[in-house]
Amino acid sequence: MKKFIYFGLAILLLIGTVRSEDDVDDVDEEVGTVDRDFGSSREASRTDDEVVKREAEAIKIDGLNAAQIQELRERAEKFTFETEVNRMMKLIINSLYKNKEIFLRELISNASDALDKIRFLSLTDKSVLETNPELSIRIKADLDNKILSITDSGVGMTKADLINNLGTIAKSGTAEFLGKMQDSGSPQDMNDMIGQFGVGFYSGFLVANKIVVTTKHNDDQQYIWESDSSSYSIVEDPRGDTLKRGTTVSLHLKEEALDFLQQDTIKSLIRKYSQFINFPIYLWSSKTIQVEEEDDTEAPKEEDQPEKDKAEDEDDAAVEEAAEEAEKKTKKIDKTVWDWERMNDSKPIWTLKPSEVPEEDYVEFYKSLTKDTQDPLSKIHFVAEGEVTFKALLFIPKVQPGDSFSRYGTKADNIKLFVRRVFITDKINDMMPNYLSFIRGIVDSDDLPLNVSREDLQQHKLIKVIKKKLIRKVLDMIKKISKEEYDSFWKEYSTNVKLGILEDSQNRARLSKLLLFKSSSMSNLTTLNDYVSRMKPNQKAIYYIAGASEDEVKRSPFVERLIKKGFEVLYLTEAVDEHVISALPSFDGKKFQNVAKEGFTLDDSKKAQERMEELKTTFEPLTKWLGDVLSEFINKAQISERLTDSPCALVASMFGWTGNMERLAISNAHQKADDPQKSYYLNQKKTLEINPRHPLIRELLKRVEADVEDATAKEMATLMFKTATLRSGYMLRETASFAASVEQLMKKSLGIPLDEVPEEEEEDDEPLENVTDGAQEVDADDEEPREDEHDEL
Ligand SMILES: Nc1ncnc2c1ncn2[C@@H]1O[C@H](COP(=O)(O)OP(=O)(O)OP(=O)(O)O)[C@@H](O)[C@H]1O
Ligand SMILES: [Mg+2]
Repeated sequence: MKKFIYFGLAILLLIGTVRSEDDVDDVDEEVGTVDRDFGSSREASRTDDEVVKREAEAIKIDGLNAAQIQELRERAEKFTFETEVNRMMKLIINSLYKNKEIFLRELISNASDALDKIRFLSLTDKSVLETNPELSIRIKADLDNKILSITDSGVGMTKADLINNLGTIAKSGTAEFLGKMQDSGSPQDMNDMIGQFGVGFYSGFLVANKIVVTTKHNDDQQYIWESDSSSYSIVEDPRGDTLKRGTTVSLHLKEEALDFLQQDTIKSLIRKYSQFINFPIYLWSSKTIQVEEEDDTEAPKEEDQPEKDKAEDEDDAAVEEAAEEAEKKTKKIDKTVWDWERMNDSKPIWTLKPSEVPEEDYVEFYKSLTKDTQDPLSKIHFVAEGEVTFKALLFIPKVQPGDSFSRYGTKADNIKLFVRRVFITDKINDMMPNYLSFIRGIVDSDDLPLNVSREDLQQHKLIKVIKKKLIRKVLDMIKKISKEEYDSFWKEYSTNVKLGILEDSQNRARLSKLLLFKSSSMSNLTTLNDYVSRMKPNQKAIYYIAGASEDEVKRSPFVERLIKKGFEVLYLTEAVDEHVISALPSFDGKKFQNVAKEGFTLDDSKKAQERMEELKTTFEPLTKWLGDVLSEFINKAQISERLTDSPCALVASMFGWTGNMERLAISNAHQKADDPQKSYYLNQKKTLEINPRHPLIRELLKRVEADVEDATAKEMATLMFKTATLRSGYMLRETASFAASVEQLMKKSLGIPLDEVPEEEEEDDEPLENVTDGAQEVDADDEEPREDEHDEL
């Protein structure tokens, strides 16, 4: 019976052991150096205890004595880290000390990436797996030596890879990232940023003062990379190829991080961060079992035989032995057995039916996929059928990275593409359009070919179909966000939706339903749908006004009369808003009307029309006169329907630029300085609308009727035009003469003679002649605004 148990255990261990031939010599020196995996003597196992011991020692003993290690170290090529790596490591170590545990997630995720890579390569060339057919991650804690090692049978790294991948930071934007890390106050923010930026590997130094990476790539020898975080060395592994293929990352833990050697700690971390890794993760773990043991204390010996051979033919033997031993006297004892324990269920979550997946699992999956510490804002899990069948699981994060818009249009690898559960790539161009690049998730299709290059896949016609469906589904998901949560969605992603309207004409109508705007009648934001439902029965268009702030648009002369008459006006206060609405031909059959533009009447009843005609005739002398006097600046003057409190306003033509648009165009740094379209719009004359009920206008009419040459009237007209320019949201091309005119007015109203100049400053020293002259000239200029300055308006 005892034999039976031994055989059973031996077989179990053999099944789970990747590198069981890494048997070792006993080396007692505490060498405390390079690699703990050295050594590969092939002594056969005798008892389960020995197998266990050997497994434990595989990481403890490196098979080289201190002198050999010393020699190895001398031979090793020394490298310094790129300065950015150094800065990065310092920051990580100093800022993430409260969140050390993420190191395990990062290293497992690297192992999983490496496995994905070799599996992907094997799709087109099966032979790449021959070096080591198993695809797994194995984690082992060596309590005696305080080493935690993570081994994967992934793609491994060549020597050049080691230098490039572990000595430099290839990603762009590192400097910017480092700056941000320095600015960021809370460890939480830093943790989030690190997640997003992916400084993965270096997080190992949070818990280790030394990291040894042993790695074997199919195209190169096995190498040992070692670093204490200040510099690193690389040396060819004298043991040769013990890994077959893959990488072992051995962390020599700091004293304060020894808890990470505890099985329970490791298990809970794997559960927390890595349960959705698509490769089996094994932990070398112990458990206590009850076994029946012979009373007889003599342990049966097994022949010295290489383990591997034994494993193949021992099944039958074990059965026979068991039968023989069955009759013997036994007692029950507790026994600690060690074995590779599977830590995750690698059946991908997206292959399950949505009804079978608990909500928490989605959240955990999202977190492990994105490294986000917050829950997602929303998710959608669906199977699409038709021209192409695929499963997808997509998420909206609560926040998008702060630099999303400065990186807008650059590639985002937020959607992972799988074909028949095999990870293919996260680099398919625009799997999501730019404006939806914040969507995270996975897509898995059985209909795509497995054995084609990524480039060919990119071109595959089914990819196009998938992309189209994904957008529809995402827009659906957004539409279904509850009212309470929609506010936070909108706060974070309003610009994305608006850019979507500009960029995605096919989905414009769908996107327009997601828009929210401020409005004259609502304290909250309103949808266009709700606006339409509140429209007056005779209201023909959706009225809106655009400006830099709510305050500005509320006080704009253009909305005065509309609001007074009970019409609702949308307030467009974001820079992009006016462009967005211009891109929308209509909503629900209703056209949009910019109230700062020509082209609408508030009241088209016969009576109103008659009244208008009457006013037009009465004010004709003034409108004609204004057209002449201000011909340089305006297209024409006319009676306004929209003004109540303001004397006049400057109105853009249907296709012209409003003041808001003009400001945006001028402030747009990307626009060419001499863009002919821009100067066309800027030089386009506007219409001056006058308020027939305003006393200033009535007075002007009187004066003009009395004397068309009235100098004061002319002066007033110019000034009125300028104030209207400002009130209407346009910029004055030239402000000095405007300021001078206002100062003139002030002098007049205070009764100061217009030709009175500022007093001369008393000089202590003899003033230099020419300086005095110059000062006088300036005064003279201030006094009299020059005519030609108006040309610049
Ligand atoms: N176990 C491994 N096997 C093979 N290559 C690895 C392994 N671990 C790290 N690397 C290489 O080192 C590089 C750096 O790893 P690191 O975790 O710092 O960044 P990353 O994995 O590229 O990005 P992120 O962690 O954000 O996903 C990886 O891109 C990979 O090329
Ligand atoms: Mg990584």
